[in-house]
Amino acid sequence: MCGIVGYIGQNDSKEILLRGLEKLEYRGYDSAGIAVVNKNSGVQVFKEKGRIAELREVVDTSVNTTAGIGHTRWATHGVPSKVNAHPHQSSTTRLTIVHNGVIENYSGLKREFLEGVELKSETDTEIVVQVIEKFMKEGLNLEEAFSKTLGILKGSYAIALLDNENPDTIYVAKNKSPLLVGLGEGFNVVASDAMAMLQVTDQFVELMDKEVVFVTREEVVIKNPEGDIIDRAPYTAELDAGDIEKGTYPHYMLKEIDEQPLVIRKIIQKYQDDNGQLVIQPDILNAVDEADRVYIVAAGTSYHAGLLGKQFIEKWAKTPVEVHVASEFSYNMPLLSENPLFIFISQSGETADSRAVLVQVKELGYKTLTITNVPGSTLSREADYTLLLHAGPEIAVASTKAYTAQIAVLSILAAVTAERKGAGLHFDLAQELGIVATAMEALCDQKEEFEYIAREYLSTTRNCFFIGRAVDYYVGLEGSLKLKEISYIQAEGFAGGELKHGTIALIENGTPVIALATQEHVNLSIRGNVKEVVARGANPCIISIKGLEEEDDRFVLPEVHETLTPLVAVVPLQLISYFAALHRGCDVDKPRNLAKSVTVE
Ligand code: F6R
Repeated sequence: MCGIVGYIGQNDSKEILLRGLEKLEYRGYDSAGIAVVNKNSGVQVFKEKGRIAELREVVDTSVNTTAGIGHTRWATHGVPSKVNAHPHQSSTTRLTIVHNGVIENYSGLKREFLEGVELKSETDTEIVVQVIEKFMKEGLNLEEAFSKTLGILKGSYAIALLDNENPDTIYVAKNKSPLLVGLGEGFNVVASDAMAMLQVTDQFVELMDKEVVFVTREEVVIKNPEGDIIDRAPYTAELDAGDIEKGTYPHYMLKEIDEQPLVIRKIIQKYQDDNGQLVIQPDILNAVDEADRVYIVAAGTSYHAGLLGKQFIEKWAKTPVEVHVASEFSYNMPLLSENPLFIFISQSGETADSRAVLVQVKELGYKTLTITNVPGSTLSREADYTLLLHAGPEIAVASTKAYTAQIAVLSILAAVTAERKGAGLHFDLAQELGIVATAMEALCDQKEEFEYIAREYLSTTRNCFFIGRAVDYYVGLEGSLKLKEISYIQAEGFAGGELKHGTIALIENGTPVIALATQEHVNLSIRGNVKEVVARGANPCIISIKGLEEEDDRFVLPEVHETLTPLVAVVPLQLISYFAALHRGCDVDKPRNLAKSVTVE
């Protein structure tokens, strides 16, 4: 969370930084700021509480500047406010810093090094810049003071720093938090995510933890912690600038929901060989094959996809699977099997909770596979193997297309592993996924229907329950997360049979209960559960599937293979959530208190 940009070159840095921050706003949007090198008067800081649009209002457009750094914040230490917004400056204002991450030992550093120093903000970041200045006052030059400070920081950071006395360099470093350097002709840039600087370059250089980097107009010098200069080739960011624009859509979330059929087709194509066979790299197949148990570790929506991945891998590949919430795993590690394989599912590939587990299990010597949408992301780089989602950038904070892409890729992984074990499926998965894509298209064409359902059930309600059995229960969990995170309606997903063990007490006259009925073997029992809530006053919305439909069902999904129903059942839930949020006047793409990429534990 939090996004960083930096630019040093020939053009107006204000506009490049602001546009970069707009692209990074998904990483946090509590407050934002830029520091630019004013050619006449040195470093000048502009910051504001709120969104980049608010920051734009306070930036003095007349400043003549061709270098600067910027930040969009998701608050960790200190409330969202102008004072706590980045950039932060040292007491003399010589140094100016932006930072993403969490400095765990900031209070210790403050006690040890900053006695008597007056701090302006409540942030851990200000401590860092003050400590660097303290070391400079003791006689170190900036490079020495910067390196010394980095050496004593505990936690995660991506940092960009300006020195008013040498404004021709941006000083950069990272540990655990993502940061890239971008290269251009006569300019260079810094960004948390390549997307931010695609406006000026598609050439990027990865940075490794604890390297110190000096970015000037002409060059980028990377030094390892030992002080040796590292030569690292750039890569081309394979992102289309069009992928990160909304186009004619009012919101990214709607665009991304609509992209799902395309994404499923792309996944089929990417995972097919020339003969149309679904394939997975042999080393990954070997790893799954050799594992006596698979541990799926993920957070939020990706965790929900993991629950479905377990079904595929256990049913088809016959390998036992446990699915764990990343933030709990490290502190409450289960008894592991002898030869486990860890699968990390992460749209961003940057989620700190998942990364913490990755680091831990790598230390234990276990094999790791990351399933991610972002090639080159931290989880991808650090795992032994990667499978890509090919979903294109997902910008709305609420994940939609990445979720269905995760399910599709997990199904392919399970199917190809099963094939390898001589237990191939009795149906053509590629063909069935193609049918899913067509069904998704049909659903996306019925938006008015879902808008109507949202209006009917959710425009004034305080809460909403999702129920389902078997895989429908897992889809209900995802539906409830979608609804609560963007509409702020208190929404919970339950296994249909579990309601009567407590939750049914919450059902009142008119409480909306969205029930999924896509599984034949539990069709009667989930319908029984609906009757139980209706008897207590609930307003039921049954979403069933062709072949299982009954008279009062509110919506009937097009038929797809029974194992793949989650891929279509979630689409109405995404659209209903979208329209519920819209009707309630919520900021669909940037819900309160959230950020897209959760890089703090
Ligand atoms: C919800 C959502 C989050 C993410 C979670 C994990 O819509 O997007 O719950 O799924 O923060 O993020 P990734 O998948 O990037 O690890």
